Amino acid sequence: MTRFGIIGGGLMGHGIAVALAQAGYRVGVFDADPAALAGLGERVGQALSRSATPPERAGAVADRIFTVDSLAVLAGQSDIVVEAVSERLAVKHEVLAALEPDIAVDTPVWTNTSVLSISEVAQPMLHPRRLVGVHWWNPPYLIPLVEIAPGADTEPGFVKQAHELITALGKTSVLLHRDVPGFIGNRLQFALVREALHLLDEGVCEPETIDTVVRASLGLRWSTVGPMENADYIGLDLTRAILTSLAPSLSGRTSAFPTLDRLLAHDQAGRAAGRGLLDWPAGQGDEVAARLEDGIRHNLRVR
Ligand code: NAI
Repeated sequence: MTRFGIIGGGLMGHGIAVALAQAGYRVGVFDADPAALAGLGERVGQALSRSATPPERAGAVADRIFTVDSLAVLAGQSDIVVEAVSERLAVKHEVLAALEPDIAVDTPVWTNTSVLSISEVAQPMLHPRRLVGVHWWNPPYLIPLVEIAPGADTEPGFVKQAHELITALGKTSVLLHRDVPGFIGNRLQFALVREALHLLDEGVCEPETIDTVVRASLGLRWSTVGPMENADYIGLDLTRAILTSLAPSLSGRTSAFPTLDRLLAHDQAGRAAGRGLLDWPAGQGDEVAARLEDGIRHNLRVR
């Protein structure tokens, strides 16, 4: 059976490991930070209990995930390598350059980058044809979607293999025709975030109001009827009329986001700082994490 090697055992790396191990794969994990490796078992255990894996299965799943002390060893024992290191192009370049001499020329490499161009990530590679963008969503063992995109030099066979393997995991695997920063999901998500910040900048409402509007309307709708089906449903003539009327007042900002810039200048960076767009009293982060996973599980059950 295909052996996976994951580089980067952080939030996504450990979650992807759980998703793969749940499907029966053996998964080695390497991380440059020894603390990340030391804590991997505990975080895998937490993920398994949060993902409602039956206790009689959880032990076997956890046993399929193991830590590896060096990149070279991971490379030598992996049939597919998943890159899930920090979202910095230089770090990804360094890791891929170090990895490639130690893997066979046809070993696929999947990058979990969120918003970097796959072609740019592939830049230092000897064999960029094997790099595929395989973008999981957090938490990977719960969210169905995995977006798959080729870089400019990726060979179609590697894309097809990723798509088939991810589909066989029971995931909703979608294929992009070409590389675009942010895949589809993050482009849509951050178009909405940009407009939400614009509404705050313009003094239209409080941040809490944005969340209430989305949770009580769009968030409910989009899990059953997507925006393209909805555009057809209401009619493309109406869709065009609404867009023509709204588009001139929508945000087109490409830099300088006044609300974000002001909060960040005052060290109000969000959850970790205790204050951001909202207040984050102690324990609130854990409450949100639990609410998020419970809500996703509930939505998946009732769908
Ligand atoms: P993270 O910060 O939790 O984990 C990154 C891990 O990479 C850390 O444990 C770090 O020690 C390790 N690392 C850094 N440099 C390394 C190196 N040279 N060699 C080996 N390990 C190294 O970050 P997270 O959130 O897991 O993100 C990983 C990737 O997944 C990023 O590309 C990110 O954009 C992407 N992603 C993140 C999502 C999220 O919700 N956080 C969702 C989807 C994708």
